Amino acid sequence: MAKPGLTVAIIGGGIAGLMFALALSKSREDIAIDIYEAGPDFSELGAGLNLWPRVLEIMDSFGLIGELQATAGKPDHEKKMQFRKGDEPGSIIWGESPASIHGIHRGDLLKILVEHTATRCQSHFHKKIVSYEDIPHQPVILNFTDGTTATCDLLVGADGVKSSVRAYMYNQMADKLQSEGRIDDEVENVRKHAKPYWSGNIIYSSKEEARRQMIITYPISQGRFINTACVVVKDDLYGTIYDGPWAVRTTNEEVVKQYNGWDAPAQALVKLAENPMRWVVNIVLDDLPTFACGRVAIIGDAAHSMTTHQAAGAMQAVEDGYVLAALLGRPETSPGTIPLALRAYDEVRRPIAQSFQRLSRQTAQMILLDKMDGVTKETSAASVYSKETLPNKNDLLQELFQWAPKSSVVPDRDRALQIYGTMVRNSNSGFEHRLPLETVLAFSKM
Ligand SMILES: Cc1cc2nc3c(=O)[nH]c(=O)nc-3n(C[C@H](O)[C@H](O)[C@H](O)COP(=O)(O)OP(=O)(O)OC[C@H]3O[C@@H](n4cnc5c(N)ncnc54)[C@H](O)[C@@H]3O)c2cc1C
Ligand SMILES: *[C@@H]1O[C@H](CO)[C@@H](O)[C@H](O)[C@H]1NC(C)=O
Repeated sequence: MAKPGLTVAIIGGGIAGLMFALALSKSREDIAIDIYEAGPDFSELGAGLNLWPRVLEIMDSFGLIGELQATAGKPDHEKKMQFRKGDEPGSIIWGESPASIHGIHRGDLLKILVEHTATRCQSHFHKKIVSYEDIPHQPVILNFTDGTTATCDLLVGADGVKSSVRAYMYNQMADKLQSEGRIDDEVENVRKHAKPYWSGNIIYSSKEEARRQMIITYPISQGRFINTACVVVKDDLYGTIYDGPWAVRTTNEEVVKQYNGWDAPAQALVKLAENPMRWVVNIVLDDLPTFACGRVAIIGDAAHSMTTHQAAGAMQAVEDGYVLAALLGRPETSPGTIPLALRAYDEVRRPIAQSFQRLSRQTAQMILLDKMDGVTKETSAASVYSKETLPNKNDLLQELFQWAPKSSVVPDRDRALQIYGTMVRNSNSGFEHRLPLETVLAFSKM
């Protein structure tokens, strides 16, 4: 490549970072892409991932669908997500997702992404970012824990729920407000977003009181594996800080013990769990005021880590990358217009991703049959509640997943491009570097 028109640094090589790198590498020839990953290589924790038709559409637009199907098999349009009350002998199916599901192995997806980005991107391992400097008319400077630095025109934090980029962005905004003499509450409302919070969900819980649980299971890798997650939900603990370790090994016995009294398929399934892990599901709060500031943006879990109940976290990460890459790929994009591109990205993507965060929480309440008249843990265990009310829940479920069959990200991309086009035409100064602090404050007060 001759001198690149744009240099982009991506922090984190998970699904969000690599999918964005891929989208960007297909968008414009003259963009130089560096990926900085804290770990020794690219890897994914956990096994299964469900892809909705909306993600498959994006994979197809990048010409990856054939490779994905070669390992994951062809999607079966008849295969829907089924919702079953199984915590008693003789289970009842009470709902079905309105769109088909496609279970894949995370490793298979990652392998395809790594192969396709290898030729166009520079990968750097053992590079953990701690801070950055975004001073107008100078390159953005990245600082790593090993004392080294790097530069770029655009910094994209795809560094997961514990994101250092998000933490630095929000601490800096809070410091700025503090220096302007804002009241403590306002400052704290911004600073709080530097941290991840507990969703109240634990997957493969062992010691927790088994009050409100569910099992999510589906085949992956063309049925060679069964992916199973047992989730305990304590919604009253949503938004608290979880101090213990986030992931630990547990035993099969611990998991099995919790499903005493469940129906036969549920008990058979949990008995199969080999070397189960116990995961504490941490999230980003769904009122994060901005996904971008100056020439720095956050994508994927760094911006909107959510609970698993809509199976939408990775899908939303992929959509972030798709829309952001389309904006950067425009011929008019230069280092000077990047803040505008990031504003358009934030304006279009943030409300959508945050609506999935909220839908996911509502879906858990639905699956756990909260607010269902006349059924308690005890009446359910004794099987003496009104079974006629269960099918009514399917209508509510259809509402929660109504986005799934419509399934296209293209209108979102086009809206972002339109907003960006208008901003570029109306801006004569190019660089627009003010922190969107007033926006941030207005949002935090809501
Ligand atoms: C049990 C479970 C089931 C799920 N099921 C689904 C599903 O069915 N469908 C779906 O769409 N989504 C699902 N999700 C959500 C999905 O897994 C995540 O949303 C997605 O993997 C997030 O990807 P990411 O790249 O944003 O973050 P991550 O995968 O966390 O990647 C972040 C990367 O950044 C690196 N990093 C971190 N900090 C730094 C730093 N300071 N400097 C440099 N690098 C750094 C990390 O090493 C890592 O490689 C599920 C999640 C869970 C927990
Ligand atoms: C980043 O590193 C440079 C060079 O070591 C240093 O001058 C600068 O203060 C660091 N910036 C931050 C924000 O830590």
